[in-house]
Amino acid sequence: MSPTYFIDALQNELSQLQYGQHPPELYDPIRYIMSLGGKRLRPLLTLMATYLFTDDWQKAIRPALGIEVFHNFTLLHDDIMDKAPLRRGEPTVHEKWNDNIAILSGDVMLVNAYKLLLHVEADKLKSVLARFSETAAEVCEGQQMDMNFETRWDVTEEEYVEMIRLKTSVLVGYALELGGLIAGADDDTNRHLYEGGMNIGIGFQLKDDLLDVYGDPAKFGKQVGGDIIANKKTFLLIEALEQTTGSLKNELIEWLQKSEFDRDEKVRAVTAIYDKVGIRQLTESRINDYFARGFANFDAIDADPNRKNVLSQFARQLVERES
Ligand code: IPE
Ligand code: IPE
Ligand code: MG
Ligand code: MG
Ligand code: MG
Repeated sequence: MSPTYFIDALQNELSQLQYGQHPPELYDPIRYIMSLGGKRLRPLLTLMATYLFTDDWQKAIRPALGIEVFHNFTLLHDDIMDKAPLRRGEPTVHEKWNDNIAILSGDVMLVNAYKLLLHVEADKLKSVLARFSETAAEVCEGQQMDMNFETRWDVTEEEYVEMIRLKTSVLVGYALELGGLIAGADDDTNRHLYEGGMNIGIGFQLKDDLLDVYGDPAKFGKQVGGDIIANKKTFLLIEALEQTTGSLKNELIEWLQKSEFDRDEKVRAVTAIYDKVGIRQLTESRINDYFARGFANFDAIDADPNRKNVLSQFARQLVERES
């Protein structure tokens, strides 16, 4: 089974989803953000995880789309919080409409996500929804930590990893676990899926932080340098604060403390400091470490090696992604 088969199936169902009609200001932004594409990483992981244990992976399509709708809801709110102008190469919802519309459309997307998750067999419903609810609350916890960290200077790598585990990785882990739950896999297997997703999710967010600095604006689809402008405590910044000394460290701290600055100038200056201490290579090596841990979790799963290969090959591409 090639991943394009899963992508086509998702796309087909996605194009038929009805989110609602009136008032249009509530529902148009949902159709807008959902139609801008994106990698569809999380629902694809759900389908691939279901396929590990059953040929009937199509029964996972609607719940998988529930996770994608939830993810897109978090993006609407995240882009307000991060004051982001661009998403998937187009204006963000709060830029195209306004903040209130992005908040409320996001809210109704969360409801839509639950509705889609209801499409699981009755005996699985409670565990699917209970685990989803836990995960969704954790995403909010991670997002709050991310915001808290903007004004702190002493964030450790350990605190950073915990923050991205919550804001990003738990949902990647749950996407895989959901596939196991739907397919009726045992608890141990579902734990390996979740742990694998968690490690890959951490690597994935590290890569997101890296692309935010070193991405090609034509491919990235988001504003390059947004994290530097907002003093986000990314792995890159935490490491740079750790690795620099003397005048270079002072220069970095000065940029972080400026309340008025030219954005491009700050992005250029901070990136030049990152370059001097080799932050890019360090981040790349950490990304590889976390992905390797994720693959080791997958190795422990008892399933058809060919089917596991579909999943691992797909995950491997995420290391090299440019958007
Ligand atoms: C962006 O997620 C938010 C993060 C958790 C890094 P993706 O990189 O999966 O965004 P899309 O859905 O492909 O646009
Ligand atoms: C957001 O992390 C993760 C979410 C849970 C939405 P980022 O703020 O780095 O995501 P992007 O870069 O805007 O996609
Ligand atoms: Mg953001
Ligand atoms: Mg954010
Ligand atoms: Mg980011």
